[in-house]
Amino acid sequence: MMRSNLKIVIAAMLVALIATAAMAAPKAQKKPAAPKPVKSKGGQRGVILNQTDFCIFLPPKYGGGIAENEDRAVAFCTKSGLPGANAQDLPAGFIQSAHFVSNTAKGYVQVTGRMDGSKYGLSKKDGGGQYDIRAPVGAKCAGYNYFVQLTEPDENIYCIRCCKTKSDCPVNKSTYGCKKVLGGDYS
Ligand SMILES: *[C@@H]1O[C@H](CO)[C@@H](O)[C@H](O)[C@H]1NC(C)=O
Ligand SMILES: *[C@@H]1O[C@H](CO)[C@@H](O)[C@H](O)[C@H]1NC(C)=O
Repeated sequence: MMRSNLKIVIAAMLVALIATAAMAAPKAQKKPAAPKPVKSKGGQRGVILNQTDFCIFLPPKYGGGIAENEDRAVAFCTKSGLPGANAQDLPAGFIQSAHFVSNTAKGYVQVTGRMDGSKYGLSKKDGGGQYDIRAPVGAKCAGYNYFVQLTEPDENIYCIRCCKTKSDCPVNKSTYGCKKVLGGDYS
């Protein structure tokens, strides 16, 4: 009698444990506006491989402001499972055009183009902002030491460059916008 009671208790504990784990899982993925920066668990590692396979950083939650999420942005890629990336998938239709540049002499790669911010709830009134290796803390572009990204929902353009050398990824012009900071093609 005692022994079967014990079994029941153990079984009940197991069920409770599994239920707790199941409940905790989706919560962990949502990552509500936490005061601390999201570490790699939140997916803060992007990569730029080419015109079709690359990642950009966006607020962790749909509809978030670009500048408001400087400390929390996470990586989103055009495809899942890109080598080197730890990221989520970009919403379908978000990337409208992408122009890839590889400067082998300087050792940087960049992608510039048009986006449809509405696919992630970005506001047309959002003047945008800059993400780089200092903000969000922990963000990285795989294979490179530096990166800089500007996202301009009001213009629906984005640009990201990953660099070996710091000076190729200027972070001191965040208000100038993509076209002045990185140049490139926005057609
Ligand atoms: C992009 O890179 C991936 C992985 O290296 C490759 O499979 C794909 O063919 C490339 N696409 C283009 C357009 O170069
Ligand atoms: C940004 O830094 C670079 C390199 O130090 C410098 O040449 C440039 O004038 C700076 N630009 C601004 C707007 O501060």
